[in-house]
Amino acid sequence: MSPSRISESQMVITPLKHAADKKCKLGATVTGLDLNNVSDEDLATLKEATHRYQLLMIKDQHDLDVKKHWELVTRLDPTAHEVHGHGTVEQFAKTGGMLAKRTVHGIPAAPNVRLIGKGYQGDDHYGIKNFTAAGASNDYHRYPPSEEAFAAGNTQFQRWHTDAPLYDREPPHFTALRAIKCQTAFVSTIQLYELLSDEEKMLADNSWVEYAPFPYMWIENCKGRPNGLGLETEGLEHKMDEMPEWEEKKIKRYPMVWVNPLGQKALQVHGIAVRKMFLKDTPTSEVKIVDNVVEIRKLLHSWQERIIRPEYVLSAPVEEGDVQMWDNWSVFHTAIDYPDQYGPRTMHQANLAASDSPVGPVPIPVF
Ligand SMILES: [Fe+2]
Repeated sequence: MSPSRISESQMVITPLKHAADKKCKLGATVTGLDLNNVSDEDLATLKEATHRYQLLMIKDQHDLDVKKHWELVTRLDPTAHEVHGHGTVEQFAKTGGMLAKRTVHGIPAAPNVRLIGKGYQGDDHYGIKNFTAAGASNDYHRYPPSEEAFAAGNTQFQRWHTDAPLYDREPPHFTALRAIKCQTAFVSTIQLYELLSDEEKMLADNSWVEYAPFPYMWIENCKGRPNGLGLETEGLEHKMDEMPEWEEKKIKRYPMVWVNPLGQKALQVHGIAVRKMFLKDTPTSEVKIVDNVVEIRKLLHSWQERIIRPEYVLSAPVEEGDVQMWDNWSVFHTAIDYPDQYGPRTMHQANLAASDSPVGPVPIPVF
């Protein structure tokens, strides 16, 4: 180690200490790092720590320059095209379906950094004037809490998800969310994989899923289940002939299990967007194709609900000025809606469509 290295880096990474009744393992805080000025060496440490702890709370970034925020995610995946995971604001508005029902703004100084939130964002928020955001809320649910219950502080996880277009572009490796005011919850899909039985792990390891073209448009009329995991199945998905023309080569087929750079396996299936499953019980079994969403969701919910439990869910201990950065290939996260009298929600979200595709424990066929 060179003397300059000792004197330059002040970064300290401290794993979160979870309460005695918790079983979740993810999360760490990072102090002594200024995201406006990150050395290559600190960047490498940060990247490794994001894979290791899955969620980092990078403290004291009140003065983060929006351009530097975007630069951070591009430096973490330097060969990727420089575009947000959901493409440009214009592309997103056209085909983002369920996700694009509300106006999304790019921050003028760095349009790939998106202002997301709920409520009035002020006279001039980084150049965005007099904007009232209609953000993620419990109106996504088929059975939301009553107005009285909500006003009294009862809420629901909004929608458990990974930040992923699941058509055309690849899922971002990392999301860096500048948390000006928000509440977000996380679960580890590595820990979820560990909760499967040996037979289920074998099935998951050898199976893959196919996502719908323009998946969030396909399900734009669907409603969420009460715990925020998955959709109520009510026949409200669009028929394929109602969908805009899509290109076969842009359809995404991913393994159910994604292996991270540390060799850990995550059960990373974005159930709301899956249109087909290709199931193999063992490496030598015949492939069973399932294209009925009732059956698809039944299997996925039975697995994924094991992690949506108080002991495994981390309600992120976020403070104004934090940047939350997560390994988007090994966690699920969700917004948590709260009543207007608690104030607006305000976040700046940056993620970059990845330069590569998720890789499973066994190769899946090339179509
Ligand atoms: Fe998200």
